[in-house]
Amino acid sequence: NIKGFAFDLDGVIADTAKFHALAWQKIAEEVGTTWTTSLAESLKGVSRMASLQIILDASTRLLALSTAAKKELADKKNQHYQQLIVTLTPKDILPGMLKFIDSAYDNGYKMAIASASKNAPLILSQLQLTDYFDGIVDPTALKNGKPNPEIFLRSADIMSLDNTQVIGLEDATAGITAINAAGQTSLGIGNATVLSAANLIYPSTESVTLANIAHDMKNI
Ligand code: BG6
Ligand code: MG
Repeated sequence: NIKGFAFDLDGVIADTAKFHALAWQKIAEEVGTTWTTSLAESLKGVSRMASLQIILDASTRLLALSTAAKKELADKKNQHYQQLIVTLTPKDILPGMLKFIDSAYDNGYKMAIASASKNAPLILSQLQLTDYFDGIVDPTALKNGKPNPEIFLRSADIMSLDNTQVIGLEDATAGITAINAAGQTSLGIGNATVLSAANLIYPSTESVTLANIAHDMKNI
């Protein structure tokens, strides 16, 4: 019996993937890495430092950067990114998600944020969604990022629910793997081929409704 939802943020609630991509692209150009859509896709759900490492590994240059130099590049990316996200307004909530969150709240479901982003509190506040949630998992307190289940396990703790009572919502494969490993029901939003491991798959946020979920839960 489902009693709560654990939400990824970027690409599930907020249309921020484009901003992450713009900010990382600047760093990629700086370090000699060709920016491609598949590189952008591979960074989804991945932590800031791990994302930087993927970009550095794809560089045509022989780079031997110190930890301090890497930290500087990651900080620079975040400065670009923060300049973009302060422009977010409730209009940047992905289609249908405000309605979904609002109806889940009205129906007494618990809700938590399971995002790798350290900017999640700022983004939720820009989108005026903070008060809907029982809490935000602190990604800095985690030993392992997605696809490790840790972040989703913590979200169930925040909601005081058993993992079997939670549906996790994700747009990235690493996140679906994490939800499945946590023993929760995984709801993937996006391409069915990419997200084939998800228990429920919806092509876009617009199809994520309590009615659709209730209907589709019967088939899993
Ligand atoms: C994830 C995004 O939600 O958060 C990644 O999908 C991002 O692209 C990661 O790198 C960390 O975010 P931040 O805001 O702490 O750099
Ligand atoms: Mg995401």
